[in-house]
Amino acid sequence: MTGHTGCNKLPRELKRRRYLKSLAAFLAGSPLIRAQQDPFRDHSRVPAIGELADAFGFEAVAYAKQPRAAYDYPAYGAETEFTLRRNREAFEWVELVPNRIVQTGTIQTATELFGTKMAFPILVSPTAGHGQLHPEGEMATHRGAAAASNTTMIVSNNSSFPFEKVAAAAESPLWVQLYPKQSLDVDREYLEKAQAAGARALVVTIDQQASVYERALHDRNLNATSRRFGIPPRSANSYRLPESRLWYEWKFFDQIRPFVKVPILAKGILTAEDAKICIERGLDGVYVSNHGGRSLDYGPSTLEVLPEIVDAVGGKALILLDSGVRRGTDILKALALGANAVCLGRVPLWGLGSFGAAGVQRVLEILQSELVQAMQFTGRPTLASVDRKLALSDFP
Ligand code: FNR
Repeated sequence: MTGHTGCNKLPRELKRRRYLKSLAAFLAGSPLIRAQQDPFRDHSRVPAIGELADAFGFEAVAYAKQPRAAYDYPAYGAETEFTLRRNREAFEWVELVPNRIVQTGTIQTATELFGTKMAFPILVSPTAGHGQLHPEGEMATHRGAAAASNTTMIVSNNSSFPFEKVAAAAESPLWVQLYPKQSLDVDREYLEKAQAAGARALVVTIDQQASVYERALHDRNLNATSRRFGIPPRSANSYRLPESRLWYEWKFFDQIRPFVKVPILAKGILTAEDAKICIERGLDGVYVSNHGGRSLDYGPSTLEVLPEIVDAVGGKALILLDSGVRRGTDILKALALGANAVCLGRVPLWGLGSFGAAGVQRVLEILQSELVQAMQFTGRPTLASVDRKLALSDFP
């Protein structure tokens, strides 16, 4: 080094400290790192299951109990995580209109989707690899969902355990999710097995989720646990394109029809245009989702696009929504803007990662009771009485 700056004149140890200090200041200011800080740092212990009041508490306990990589995998979103944050912001920009002095009596939340009776319009979204959070993986999730008023669970194509094993773990209804493969034979075998094991509907995910995330890369490069598991520090897929998922076309739905005997939904719909194609293709359901902010960053939140999709579908198919749902009031907002039911992705994972099956059950029950309370406060005693007048939206 020839040039001398003020910094270079400092003794080596002082320079090192200064760099570490600025790095620490940067990390402390980063929203990603802040989101991962121990939320119980001011508490003397991690709360017990009965002490948690809402879904966010379960996230914090999962964070406290799980290894960093297992917590991070569900937590992260694509790239800058704008869409991940937007999903939450959108719910915060919708107001519920209170309706006073309405005799609500008992609140009726029961519904029926494709012939499956449900106590609440709430399902478990398909999420991969529950085995990372609990040794019994999806089987524990299924038991927890079943214990929470028979909640329907959608089993991921990338589940840690085969669909048939998950199906055997409990009695509540299961749907199955598929990422189309290049070989129709592979899809056929998977779907035939799942239908034989009792899958009552098929969700085909078409949002071409990105395969690599910055936070995951950060973990791979810097996290000791990931290194111990032998996860390579760099992705071999330098363009981050999910190569196995970029080839398919709308005609895929026609190709699988002959061997799918249950209703089919397309998951990942975010525009009226795509929703119309679903109807033209004869699909039974439109699943509005941005993969929980894990697919296209800077794509819209699902709540923002829901009304135009509802209008485009015009009652010709069922509409599900997920991405960002954390509370009963969120569920009510989505129902008011036209969804037939909502799905929960990370919420049951936080339940699983904190207290296993009991955590899944408890966190689902919390959202169910929050929904009942929100319906009571807004004077909507039945799902049929939940209409657009209930939700005021003015998205910035
Ligand atoms: C997912 N998601 C997902 N979707 C899918 O169709 N198949 C899958 O295997 C997975 N796997 C998966 C893993 C993890 C850890 C997450 C967080 C998400 C997307 C999921 O179905 C759903 O769309 C989002 O999770 C919904 O957003 P919230 O509720 O998590 O905000």
